[in-house]
Amino acid sequence: MNLKSLISVILILKLSLLNTGLSERAKDQMYEHFDGRMSCFRRLNGTHQIGCSSKKGGSTGIIHFVETEDNLNFIIKNGADTNYIPIIPMQLLTQKTMHLLKNANIFSGLILYKDNETLEHFTHERTCPNKLSNMKNTCDVAWNPNGTGLLYEDLPFPIYYLNNNEDLQKMRDCFETFNNYSYETHKARSLCLVELDAFMFATIDTPTCIRRSNLKTNLNPVKFCDPLGGENVWATLFPLEKKQMNYVVVAARLDTTSLFHGVFPGAVSPITGIVTLLTVADYLKRMVGDDENYEKNVLFALFNGESYDYIGSQRMVYDMSRGDFPVKYEADAKNPVPTIDLTDISLFVELSHLSKSGEIFLHSLDKSNTFYDVLKKHSFTKITEVVGRLPPASAQTFIKAQPNISAVVLGNYQDEYTNQFYNSINDNASNIDYYYYNATEIPLDSIQHFTANIAEMLAKSLYVEISGKDYKGDEKVRLDLVDELYNCYLLDADCKVHQAVQRKKLRESPYNSYSLYVGVTVVPNLLTYAIGLTLAWLTGTVTSNSTCVNEPASPMYQYFNMSKSLDNLNTTVCYRSIMNFTEAISPAFLIDDYDWKSGKYSSWSESTWKDFNVRMFLRPSPAHERFTLAIGSITMVMSIIIVYFIKSRSDVLFSTVETCSPTSC
Ligand SMILES: *[C@@H]1O[C@H](CO)[C@@H](O)[C@H](O)[C@H]1NC(C)=O
Ligand SMILES: *[C@@H]1O[C@H](CO)[C@@H](O)[C@H](O)[C@H]1NC(C)=O
Ligand SMILES: *[C@@H]1O[C@H](CO)[C@@H](O)[C@H](O)[C@H]1NC(C)=O
Ligand SMILES: *[C@@H]1O[C@H](CO)[C@@H](O)[C@H](O)[C@H]1NC(C)=O
Ligand SMILES: *[C@@H]1O[C@H](CO)[C@@H](O)[C@H](O)[C@H]1NC(C)=O
Ligand SMILES: *[C@@H]1O[C@H](CO)[C@@H](O)[C@H](O)[C@H]1NC(C)=O
Ligand SMILES: *[C@@H]1O[C@H](CO)[C@@H](O)[C@H](O)[C@H]1NC(C)=O
Ligand SMILES: *[C@@H]1O[C@H](CO)[C@@H](O)[C@H](O)[C@H]1NC(C)=O
Ligand SMILES: *[C@@H]1O[C@H](CO)[C@@H](O)[C@H](O)[C@H]1NC(C)=O
Ligand SMILES: *[C@@H]1O[C@H](CO)[C@@H](O)[C@H](O)[C@H]1NC(C)=O
Ligand SMILES: *[C@@H]1O[C@H](CO)[C@@H](O)[C@H](O)[C@H]1NC(C)=O
Repeated sequence: MNLKSLISVILILKLSLLNTGLSERAKDQMYEHFDGRMSCFRRLNGTHQIGCSSKKGGSTGIIHFVETEDNLNFIIKNGADTNYIPIIPMQLLTQKTMHLLKNANIFSGLILYKDNETLEHFTHERTCPNKLSNMKNTCDVAWNPNGTGLLYEDLPFPIYYLNNNEDLQKMRDCFETFNNYSYETHKARSLCLVELDAFMFATIDTPTCIRRSNLKTNLNPVKFCDPLGGENVWATLFPLEKKQMNYVVVAARLDTTSLFHGVFPGAVSPITGIVTLLTVADYLKRMVGDDENYEKNVLFALFNGESYDYIGSQRMVYDMSRGDFPVKYEADAKNPVPTIDLTDISLFVELSHLSKSGEIFLHSLDKSNTFYDVLKKHSFTKITEVVGRLPPASAQTFIKAQPNISAVVLGNYQDEYTNQFYNSINDNASNIDYYYYNATEIPLDSIQHFTANIAEMLAKSLYVEISGKDYKGDEKVRLDLVDELYNCYLLDADCKVHQAVQRKKLRESPYNSYSLYVGVTVVPNLLTYAIGLTLAWLTGTVTSNSTCVNEPASPMYQYFNMSKSLDNLNTTVCYRSIMNFTEAISPAFLIDDYDWKSGKYSSWSESTWKDFNVRMFLRPSPAHERFTLAIGSITMVMSIIIVYFIKSRSDVLFSTVETCSPTSC
């Protein structure tokens, strides 16, 4: 009896151990995991929250595969359950559909996929981007006419973009096998479900979230949100000088945005602008050579966070108007860095959307602008002046602060963007018709030629602007550089230019650091850094100093070991450059008692989250669930009886040791 019971106890123990092992494996089999990174997430401004969040722990719903709008109406009419997650083709994501989904009250999430239809437009920006931060008459025009504005709405459920055809097929198969028949029995049978987990910690608005994050009573402080922001990149053609100097600013924006995390291609905006600016910088530097005797200087500026109410340009204007740009002026320092003030700017040229087009437009506020005539003289195509209002652009911020700055915006649109995918996941290489030619012959009708032509026109005009005479030298604009730059930003981060400026492989950097989304200030953006280094490389001066160190230290310069040229990546030489980064954080976060409702400065922040997860699984039918519950209950009752039985016989089963007091044992 003794031995027998002992064996039975061991057997029970073994069985239960085996069981837990089995159940773990069963759990893994039950769930199909997907890459959840491309989720919609939440941002906040001074007064509102926008974007999406799932429920805590994830939002679950029955998969409903949709090909046409009728499929959607069908489920609204016939859905017997209250939690559906439709999988819809991209073109169905419109205000109308969102309205339908919100009002039906049977949806707990949404998944987007790309089908074989060609998209005519897909942009969830507002019709007038940065509506609240522009000058008064800017938004009389619908610049982005097909913009739905969904990017700025508080969406009621999580949204996920499924861009992998295999995964899409899995969901579709699961739907066909388990869900797509006898909808009236949905409540009673086993169904295919998907769970979207993208829970956002921040709610309500930026000030609320900052206050909660700063609560001192909290022993274990939790951060609920971070300000949107990053770094601006700037460089000057000639060294800064103490005497008041006139500056021509050549500006472009650095960032784009979209509804989904991790997909920010930004081909037309901002990449065409960035590549044009860098090409101009390179050409202009070779035009002026070592001669520094010019009437005016050029300030190249790339602004970050412009998609979110002009974060970068607002900050630069704020710094300039306080005499803090590029750094606070310290007269008694050994080598004080001269400042650039708003009043030093004589001309502001901004590069907006510059994808291929038969005609380009120069937007300005008034006709007194002589730069148009200079441009026209150097133009390779039809160029038209549009007077009276500026499109949404960083120049707006400068003019608001200093109305007499003469500002022009160059773009390929008159009063409607030609880009149908502005600030969306589809503004990719195909949208500007880009192919990488890799040092082979580039066709004349390519984006590369178009960009090179624009850059040549601009550089020659800027030369006139800073020197007062036409360029007579024989330097040419570099087409191969244009090809390589587009390649870096659109196709391959480990491209030749990045190898030239930086030994480190950008591609190996952690996910998401390589992105044209402004991101949050606490995470450094490697692409901003690479673009800055590229600007330093193109505007830098080769020095003969073999050690390449900044000695005697001058805060004005930075020294870099970089490749000699694109054809000679392995030979490094020393560049002295006047490129630097400045903080692109909205002044709203610096001013102590800033009025968040005022809308004076950008107030955007981004919620924190733990993880993005998407998984698919089968929900058992209610009958099956009752059966499982019954089995579970029986097992529990049985085990109680067994434990009671063993306990009551424990003296027989276990004890051979004589009872004694604890101290003597
Ligand atoms: C915040 O965003 C919402 C929605 O886009 C907008 O209505 C509101 O005016 C914005 N508030 C501020 C202070 O910018
Ligand atoms: C798109 O077309 C391809 C080939 O014609 C087909 O294999 C694929 O399933 C289609 N995709 C969708 C989502 O319909
Ligand atoms: C998109 O905008 C253009 C220009 O306003 C308009 O002609 C066109 O009808 C719009 N397309 C849709 C589907 O609304
Ligand atoms: C779902 O079932 C309907 C009716 O049988 C059919 O027309 C439709 O193609 C099915 N959907 C999918 C995605 O298989
Ligand atoms: C703009 O006005 C300021 C004074 O308010 C002056 O110092 C500056 O030179 C003017 N700039 C131009 C470009 O006229
Ligand atoms: C760009 O986006 C379109 C639409 O989603 C897609 O068809 C195309 O394949 C994408 N191109 C690249 C190079 O990713
Ligand atoms: C570009 O050309 C070089 C040399 O011909 C080759 O090694 C490289 O693989 C090419 N790159 C691409 C992306 O085609
Ligand atoms: C080159 O570097 C050395 C220090 O290694 C320094 O003493 C010298 O001044 C530098 N020369 C120039 C031209 O910067
Ligand atoms: C440049 O390279 C030299 C020699 O390899 C090295 O001593 C120096 O520290 C490098 N300078 C910088 C700024 O990286
Ligand atoms: C460049 O940036 C560094 C680091 O922020 C700073 O110390 C230096 O003063 C800056 N120099 C100029 C000219 O802005
Ligand atoms: C450049 O350096 C790399 C790695 O050190 C080497 O593999 C490559 O052959 C070199 N290229 C040339 C043209 O010397």
